[in-house]
Amino acid sequence: PTPLAGRHFLKEADFTAEEFRGLLELAAELKAAKRTGTETPYLRGKNIALIFEKTSTRTRCAFEVAAADQGASTTYLDPSGSQMGHKESVKDTARVLGRMYDGIEYRGDSQAKVEELAAYSGVPVFNGLTDDWHPTQMLADVLTMSEHSDKRLTDIAFAYLGDARFNMGNSYLVTAALLGMDVRIVAPKTYWPAQEVIDRARELAAVSGARVTLTEEIAEGVAGADFVATDVWVSMGEPKEVWGERIAALAPYAVTMDVLRATGNPDVGFLHCLPAFHDLGTAIGRDVYEAHGLESLEVTDEVFESAHSLVFDEAENRMHTIKAVLVATLA
Ligand code: CP
Ligand code: NVA
Repeated sequence: PTPLAGRHFLKEADFTAEEFRGLLELAAELKAAKRTGTETPYLRGKNIALIFEKTSTRTRCAFEVAAADQGASTTYLDPSGSQMGHKESVKDTARVLGRMYDGIEYRGDSQAKVEELAAYSGVPVFNGLTDDWHPTQMLADVLTMSEHSDKRLTDIAFAYLGDARFNMGNSYLVTAALLGMDVRIVAPKTYWPAQEVIDRARELAAVSGARVTLTEEIAEGVAGADFVATDVWVSMGEPKEVWGERIAALAPYAVTMDVLRATGNPDVGFLHCLPAFHDLGTAIGRDVYEAHGLESLEVTDEVFESAHSLVFDEAENRMHTIKAVLVATLA
C-alpha cells in the first residue's frame, strides 16, 4: 500500500505538500509507463462509482480511462441517473455505494455533499469538482506547469485572472500556498476568494514560503509570471442572468496577447481548465457573445490557439493525475 491508501481526495488543504508532490511524481511515472507501454495494472478487480450531478467531458473521461488502464471498472451515474438527493439522502447513498464500490467520485455543487459521502461510505471519495474546490484539476495544472518549466516548483510564478471566488480561483490560491509557489490572483476585489480562503492560503504560505498576491492591477499581477491562467466567467449551476454583470466586471481581465506580453516573459504559458469561451466561430455561447458584442470572453482565440497555450497538455494530464489519485488511494 502507498502512504495515501484509503484516503479521500476532497480538497487540496487536506494534504501536506509532500503528499501532494508525491501524487505528482506518481502521475509522471504513470504517464511515462503508459507512453512506453509498460503500465502495471494495480487496480484489477476494483470498482469505482462516478457520480456526476453536473456535466463533464474531461473529468468523467479521465476517471473512466484511468480506471480502465489500471484494470478497474466504473459505473457512471449521470445527473438524473441515481436516487441521490431526490429520493434518497446522501448519507444513505454513501452507505449503499460503500458496500459495492472500492471508491466513489462525486461532482456536484456542494462541498458538504462530497464530505458527507466521505464520512458515511467507508471507501475513498474523490472530489471531481464542487463549487468550492477542483482538486484533481490542480494536480493536472501543477504537473503541466512543472513539465513546461525548468524551474523548481517553489520558483514558479503564475497569475490567475478572472472570477476567483469559485472552485478554480480558490483551488489555485490554496494549492500554490501549500506548495510554496508564487501565485497572483488578479481580479476586481469583489471577485477575490472569500476571506477565509485567503486566510487559509496565508497560513499555508507562512509554512511553505509561498508568495501570495491579490491585486486588481493586471500589470503588477502578471509581471514576471511563468504562466497565466483563467476560467469561465460564469460557472456551471449559475443563472444565465449573471453574464451581463460578469462581462462588465471581468472584460478588462480577459487574457489577451497584451496580457501575455505584460508578463515580460516570451515563453509564458497559458492554462485553462476548459471548457473555454474563446471563439465566436464555434457557436458555443453565441447568444452571450452577440448580446455583448464580443468575439471571445475570458481568453482570446489568438491566445488560445497560440504556441503559449498548454490547454490540451493540461487536459491530457487530467487523466494521468486522476490515475495517480486512484492508484495511491485504492491500490
Ligand atoms: N476541466 C474540467 O473539469 O472539465 P470537465 O467539466 O469537462 O470535466
Ligand atoms: N469554474 C468552472 C470550472 C469547470 C471545470 C465551473 O465550475 O463550471
